[in-house]
Amino acid sequence: MTDTKRRCVCPGSFDPVTLGHIDVFTRASAAFDEVVVAVLVNIAKPGRFAMGHRLDLLRRATADLPRVRVATFDGLLVDFCRREGIGTILKGVRSGADVEYEAPMAHMNRELAGVDTMFLPARPEWSFVSSSLVAEAARFGADIRQYLPPAVAEEIAAGLRPANR
Ligand code: PNS
Repeated sequence: MTDTKRRCVCPGSFDPVTLGHIDVFTRASAAFDEVVVAVLVNIAKPGRFAMGHRLDLLRRATADLPRVRVATFDGLLVDFCRREGIGTILKGVRSGADVEYEAPMAHMNRELAGVDTMFLPARPEWSFVSSSLVAEAARFGADIRQYLPPAVAEEIAAGLRPANR
């Protein structure tokens, strides 16, 4: 049978997932049959949260989004897209700086494999939120739970508290 599902991939490190990410997945779910949230496995960059923990947090944070599937990939994103039958890369962008950073990758991915990238502007309330800023604020004692998916906010906050880093 022919697979007619329209799929997109939201790739990233998600270290950790924030409400900005969840907003992108939610809006992508309205436009695609399947939204594959793909976490880059980067052995050279272990990150703040272990890969298994990041995946678990993502799965629990997206449990009420039935079109979302969480996966991992290494190597080229476009090779993952080919293997998974994904036609579109979808990226949330918070600012012009994000677009500038993302555009060369988008062009390269299109050149390499004909896979196009769509940019989704972040909602204003999340336009300054990033995993790294949230982690930095937490490291210096700030309460960052308001930027995190409620189902996993306490767990992420605890993992970022100075005593645990
Ligand atoms: O959340 P991040 O760290 O900004 O995500 C970056 C990511 C994973 C989207 C990007 O580094 C990526 O796609 N890496 C896979 C290798 C690849 O395909 N690079 C682009 C070739 S132009």
